[in-house]
Amino acid sequence: MRDTLTASPAQTKVPLRHLTGPRALDGALIEHLLERAAGFELVPESADGRLQGRLLATVFYEPSTRTRFSFEAAMHRLGGRVLSAENAARASSAAKGESIEDAIHVISGYADGIVLRHPEVGAADRAAQAAQVPIISAGDGPGHHPTQALLDLYTIRKELGRLDHLRVGLAGDLRNGRTARSLALLLSRFSGNQLVLISPPGLRMNEDITGSLEGVRVEETGDFAGSIPSLDVLYQTRIQAERFESPEEYEGYRGVYVLTAEVMRRLPEHAIVMHPLPRVGEIDPLVDADPRAAYFRQARNGLWVRMAVLDWALAR
Ligand code: CP
Repeated sequence: MRDTLTASPAQTKVPLRHLTGPRALDGALIEHLLERAAGFELVPESADGRLQGRLLATVFYEPSTRTRFSFEAAMHRLGGRVLSAENAARASSAAKGESIEDAIHVISGYADGIVLRHPEVGAADRAAQAAQVPIISAGDGPGHHPTQALLDLYTIRKELGRLDHLRVGLAGDLRNGRTARSLALLLSRFSGNQLVLISPPGLRMNEDITGSLEGVRVEETGDFAGSIPSLDVLYQTRIQAERFESPEEYEGYRGVYVLTAEVMRRLPEHAIVMHPLPRVGEIDPLVDADPRAAYFRQARNGLWVRMAVLDWALAR
């Protein structure tokens, strides 16, 4: 007699829909997810009951406000339920030395999908190898943040009407900033885009990304204020204090680029300012009232985009 309690998706050979990094996102999937997100935003009731009976585990080994809350809100709005480990580094058996592979193997037996944030580059890929349910990366150290890049695309298209032939300035800690790294890769898929990588010499975007930016014009500069007048999008980022070897090294970069109301005068009227948030001083709060400041609208868009991602990964 077949024991239905031990049947798993892996046994049915249905390919799992993992989203562990931006390279998993081809043009057709990006378009599908952005359209689905727009549908959920336009008609929120269209989400009702889509994931009823499904259970999502959110497993966060690093702090988060936007990513965890928006994934959990998205799951609830789709009719599903959530198990949450908001401090998995200390409050799960990782504190006793359990490997990510073992933890994910076990959690796979309790939930229908796992959203994972982890401090190690490649952790989401390792988790996907061990999982029997879809793994969605919520950020792997200084590696990638694929759903942030998707919501960034969604925001750009909503605000400016297109994803091609744009001049986008990515500013700040491009060595450690996973959001800028993922967004650069996705923007390079659309024709005619120009990327201006604005960082101090020690915080340049690594070759693993810049070497993959085919079909897009890339300029590297340290001149923040001088770059702004030619941009359609300024994507400002935080200096990632938690990724530095010492507080002294971080202090050497803190405050290197600050967007003030005065600097905003140099930004074209049609352009927008984005930031994945949290900000820690690199955008003066006085800028918030400027209609070109899109970062809080961007954070809100994370809800619709993560609804689309969960719907894609988990709907039967
Ligand atoms: N943008 C982002 O990933 O924010 P959180 O760290 O608050 O999730």
